[in-house]
Parts: sequence; structure tokens; C-alpha cells
Amino acid sequence: MELFDVYPLYDITPVKGEGPYVYDAEGKKYLDLYGGHAVISIGHSHPLYIDGLRNQAGKLGFYSNSVKNPLQEELAQKLEEVSGCLDYQLFLCNSGAEANENALKLASFHTGKSRVLYFEKAFHGRTSGVVAVTDNESIKAPFNKGHQVTKLAFDDLAGLEEELKKEDVAAVILEVIQGVGGLDEASSQFYKSASKLCKKYAAVFIADEVQSGYGRTGNFFAFQKHGIRPDIISIAKGMGNGFPVGGILIDKNIEAKHGLLGTTFGGNHLSCAAGLAVLEVMEKEQLMGNAGSIFNYVQDKVSRIKEIKNLKGRGLMLGLEFDFEVAGLRKDLLFKHHIFTGAASNKKLLRILPPLNIKKEHFDNFFEALEVELEKLVHSERG
Ligand SMILES: Cc1ncc(COP(=O)(O)O)c(C=O)c1O
Repeated sequence: MELFDVYPLYDITPVKGEGPYVYDAEGKKYLDLYGGHAVISIGHSHPLYIDGLRNQAGKLGFYSNSVKNPLQEELAQKLEEVSGCLDYQLFLCNSGAEANENALKLASFHTGKSRVLYFEKAFHGRTSGVVAVTDNESIKAPFNKGHQVTKLAFDDLAGLEEELKKEDVAAVILEVIQGVGGLDEASSQFYKSASKLCKKYAAVFIADEVQSGYGRTGNFFAFQKHGIRPDIISIAKGMGNGFPVGGILIDKNIEAKHGLLGTTFGGNHLSCAAGLAVLEVMEKEQLMGNAGSIFNYVQDKVSRIKEIKNLKGRGLMLGLEFDFEVAGLRKDLLFKHHIFTGAASNKKLLRILPPLNIKKEHFDNFFEALEVELEKLVHSERG
């Protein structure tokens, strides 16, 4: 049977990972500054993570959500402790799209309304409801276009209030720092006012922290910098360091009822073991602090490279903006220097999303390689 060919693939086959590196079958070493789409939070094959998964697999890998699973409670407890988000309830699922899908469904149940407001350049996933609130028409099938959704400009408070006033809005969903869209972040004032407006018009405020959460920005959640309290927070990517796990944090004022949400695999024993190992390592190795201090280092380095027109994002969720399209540069970094970086819908942006325990010396390697390639570009332009 052939694979359904939906992914453009690089001709590289990683077979092993260690810390910030992956290795192919011939032992060629690649520096991973992309973490497989921001997923690798504590580094590849972290010993505590391997132990956690191995021990749990040796005991019990899975049983359904019809029996007690104390690992889920342990994970919820630890998440509260490490994130500092009090008075939330946790629902576990398997991916970012599923987390957002559950967030929207729950908001709709809670408010009895169905319209959802989203923003330009948003990416919330590819399943039915969340692709409808993603700003990319090319990935929406006719089936996905039946939802009641309205797109607004990011930072447009007046537009937001005008829509909320119609009193048919179940939820407002946003990424505090947009990932796929290109690292845009609105002002604190916008997030604060948006959150207040949601309260005023009884709409649920959903922060999609699937990419920006789990310490990536130097805060546990990106919204924490803005002093707001979302009603629902969706999480995935860094949460399992590659093990498929996602979830939503739900404000205690939103009441649970049996049957409201559900999943077969979500919150299984192995995924909880992965989630617990990630939080343990984040705490032990103070990875949020590392994300913040490496960011300062990167800012300093970037300020000396004139071809970088703008540094977007914060912590280890970064975008380097150039005045040319970066597809060729990314290929050269990968094939000539063995460094993985990412792209965004803004074609002039190089995305950097490394493991959170990355060190300055890894960024030194990256900037050396970048300068070699930028120098070549300057020469080829002159020549
Ligand atoms: C902000 C955001 N939300 C949701 C998703 C969807 O997550 P998943 O691919 O796990 O379904 C992504 C994935 O890139 C994302 O960046």
C-alpha cells in the first residue's frame, strides 16, 4: 500500500535523536532549531522522558476513560503547579486540533450560541471546526465551510465589539503569538480589552497555546505576559515532547457534565507519563528561564546582522524576517550546514523553535552558518 501523498518531504531520514540533534542512518548530525514544528520541548530522547515512558509501558500502556486513572490527576496537579494557572479543570485529548475542537464545542455548549470569531493569519488546526477558524481558504473543504464563523483583523477592538454586540457569539479564539501566521503579537491593551469584552457579552475567550505554551516564550503561557485570564486554554505540541497528547484547561466556572466531551485515547497512561516527564524536566532544568536568557543572547546576535530586518516573537518562539524570501536559505542551512529551521505563511520569515534546553553554543553554530549563507547571497547579488 502506498502512503497518501500529502506532505512535501525533504530527502532526509532521521533515525535517532539526542538533545537538540537528530541523526540520519549514516550518522549525519543535524541541529534541530525547529523541534519538528515546535513539538520537542525538553530535547530528543531525554533520559527522564525515556525512563518515564519505559516504566509506564512496562506497567500499563492504556485503559479507557471508563476507569480511574490517577496519572491524569497527577498531571493536572503538576500542570497547575508549574504553569501557575489556578482554578482550572483539565480535559485531555490527543492533538492541538482536537484540543481546539473541544474548546469550541465546550464554548458552544456553555453559551448555547454557535458563532465563533477568529483573526487574520490564525492557524488552529485542520479538523472540521478549527479549520473553519483558520485563515487559509486552501485547506478548507466545502464540508468545513458550513460553520458560523467571522474573521477579524488582529488588534481590531472596534470590530470585535461590533460582532460581540450581536450577542450570538459563543467564542473568540486566538493565538497570543501567531505561529504559522508569522509570529505577530497584538498589544497587551488588545488582549486585556478583548478578554473584558468577552465577559461583557458572555462569549468564551479561548487562548490557543498549542504552540506558544509550555514555556516556549519564557512564560509558561504566552498570555501570562499580558495579565489576562482566558476561559479556556488549549495545549498540545510541547506537552508530550513528541508523544501525541493535548488538552484544554477550563475555567472552574464552566461546569462539567457526563458525556459533554469524550475520547478513547485521550489521557491514556502512556501520554500522562510523557506529560509528567516533560513537566518534571521543565522544572528541574528551569527551561522557562533558559528560554528567556537565550532570547536575550539571540537579540544581541541579531542586532549585529544587518540583513535581518526584524526579530519577531519572544523566548524560543522566534521569527527572523528578511527582505527576501527564505525558502532557498532554509534549504542551504539544512543541506549545507545540517540545521533545521522552519517556514511561515510570511515567506520572508525564518522560524526558530528549538528545544527549550538549547544552549548559546548551538545558536553560535546557527549564526555562523547564517552569516556564511548571507555573505554568499550578497556576493551573488553583486556578481
Ligand atoms: C497554534 C496552533 N494551534 C493548533 C495547531 C494544530 O495542532 P495539531 O497539528 O496537533 O492538530 C497548531 C499546529 O501547528 C498550532 O500551531
